[in-house]
Amino acid sequence: KTYIFLGPPGAGKGTQAQRLVEEKGFVQISTGDILREAVKKGTELGKKAKEYMEAGKLVPDDIIIGIIKEKLKELEGKDIILDGFPRTIPQAEALDKMLPEVGRKLDGVILFDVPDEEVIKRLSGRRVDPKTGKVYHIIFNPPPPEIEVIQRDDDKEEVIRKRLEVYHSQTAPLIEYYKKQNKLQVIDATRSPDEVYTELLSVLK
Ligand code: AP5
Ligand code: ZN
Repeated sequence: KTYIFLGPPGAGKGTQAQRLVEEKGFVQISTGDILREAVKKGTELGKKAKEYMEAGKLVPDDIIIGIIKEKLKELEGKDIILDGFPRTIPQAEALDKMLPEVGRKLDGVILFDVPDEEVIKRLSGRRVDPKTGKVYHIIFNPPPPEIEVIQRDDDKEEVIRKRLEVYHSQTAPLIEYYKKQNKLQVIDATRSPDEVYTELLSVLK
């Protein structure tokens, strides 16, 4: 199976993908996680991506498409969730070309629908366990006291606003793109994580 998780920053894509990994054996391909790891390690990729990410801008398409190509080869035969890719029309077109080459077809695109005000609440309270990558929220999903959590560099208010702007201008056009392909399923992602998960399971056939 091959699914895309589409939606604004802070919609809960990563949270829900993690649960599908734990409970349903999916593999999550998060371009954001891959890039953050590269930045942390200081690799060539990380050096190229850092400035874009800190500014809340998108990393250039050719870099991202290269990463995905490699991952798709590596994960042949696995059920995957593309979390945070594609994010532009050129990325989506590149994916349409790549999938048949690795023997896949797109099973669905899940749009996590949440308004901007909710995004800001979620991202300003987000914390991450740097050891496991697990995502928490200081109010909605507090980390256990023994876990030391950190805040993502791009979860500062000015950067959050920029990321939202980038989402609306560059990523939201994908909604029409996948509607036309008859692949789009919309989930009300404002509800609790459990409720969102239940609805998610009902749309993943
Ligand atoms: P990326 O890491 O993909 O960030 P994003 O899309 O902005 O999404 P987030 O990870 O912020 O949100 P999420 O939907 O996963 O929410 P989460 O589950 O964590 O990308 C980062 C950067 O990398 C980009 O800005 C860009 O520079 C670059 N990049 C990545 N992919 C790229 C691409 N394809 N092309 C170009 N550049 C790319 O949840 C958020 C918070 O809310 C958490 O605290 C969580 O606990 C809480 N929460 C989750 N669900 C609920 C709920 N139902 N109710 C209440 N709280 C909830
Ligand atoms: Zn995420």
